[in-house]
Amino acid sequence: MGTVMQGSRILLIIGGGIAAYKSLTLIRDLKREGFRVVPVLTRAAEEFVTPLSVAALAGEDVHRYLFDLTREAQMGHIQLSRDADLVVVAPATADLMAKMAGGHANDLASTLLMATDKQVLIAPAMNVRMWNHPATQRNLALLRSDGIQRVGPEEGDMACGEFGPGRMAEPEHILAAIRLVLGRSRSAPLRLGPEVAARPLIGKHVVVTSGPTIEPIDPVRYISNHSSGAQGTAIAEALRDLGAKVSFVTGPATVPPPDGVEVIRVQTADEMRAAVEAALPADAAVMAAAVADWKVANRTEHKMKKDKGGMPVLEFAENPDILAWVSQLKARRPKLVVGFAAETDDVIANATAKRLRKRVDWIVANDVSTGTGTFGGADNTVSLILDSGVESWPRLGKAEVARRLANRIAEAL
Ligand code: C5P
Repeated sequence: MGTVMQGSRILLIIGGGIAAYKSLTLIRDLKREGFRVVPVLTRAAEEFVTPLSVAALAGEDVHRYLFDLTREAQMGHIQLSRDADLVVVAPATADLMAKMAGGHANDLASTLLMATDKQVLIAPAMNVRMWNHPATQRNLALLRSDGIQRVGPEEGDMACGEFGPGRMAEPEHILAAIRLVLGRSRSAPLRLGPEVAARPLIGKHVVVTSGPTIEPIDPVRYISNHSSGAQGTAIAEALRDLGAKVSFVTGPATVPPPDGVEVIRVQTADEMRAAVEAALPADAAVMAAAVADWKVANRTEHKMKKDKGGMPVLEFAENPDILAWVSQLKARRPKLVVGFAAETDDVIANATAKRLRKRVDWIVANDVSTGTGTFGGADNTVSLILDSGVESWPRLGKAEVARRLANRIAEAL
């Protein structure tokens, strides 16, 4: 079971742009989540935010000068850039990006960026014309090929009165990207989804389970199922696009997990339940995982050997029902708990009974009988079973099912 990066140290380089004020919110959010933030201001940034407010929010000294004898004696800039777990540049101005792409090192920020051996995440912010300028786009391509990670810019009204891409990503999204970059390897560049204008789920936390679980028989063999994780992944993406902070607890799915969410990888149902518990509190929980109903009770620590003779006899024990468990929580129960019901017969009747039995708020029911192509397929035909009755949706792509469900969740929250 992986992740959670509390205590990680972020070297935050604040560039000189109007978006610098949002970096103050970012510092506050990072601190609230338990990160350590070491701030660096460029000269131009000091025109927009004061070193004092940055230092007060970060609870750390602000680093400003390349040639600072006292500091250099205490800790050189090379050390500063290496002590970090991640370097974040927010806002990354056109000038800072050009310096990075060109390998300049003529002030503290650019020198730290040259000297670091850690991953770098940039949150560009600039006027739309500057963003679209061939020079910026060329620099962006260079930075991408250098393995620099990026979040945003987002599209919208800009301080300069124009409209288009160029706004710095919202602090929530930068935070999500930070979690993501810290949780993944250097080789995998980010593909953050398209930004949407309306984000009714900003400030909300949703736990999503997805994919199959695998239940070991011995160190090399296991029992599992055909879940691809496609629907759960699409739901996490749709919730993220509405602004939610998503904790995505996934078994070994075949579809890659979404970007911009916290991915918690698990293997077994027991691990999945523990990961869901660790991710609480949450405003909503969407349980889309295909959790194995049973685990092997007599799993062995050593590989079972054929030459021992005879046939192995597997004994089973029941797995925790994560959906039922989360639904019966008292204080920590998410306001909205959504389950799935994959049925082959009497879909509505069975799903309605499941809703009541597991004390779930909503059930997304679908027919997975042979011929429907739901498992591993692109489409899904679902009914949403609520307290007030049943809504049957037409056959839709899984992404569209996810979008509709995410919108309904946003309304309910
Ligand atoms: O009872 P059934 O497995 O059909 O219920 C399906 C729903 O319950 C899904 O939302 C699934 O994620 C959830 N579930 C669970 N833990 C289990 C079994 C199912 O969370 N052990």
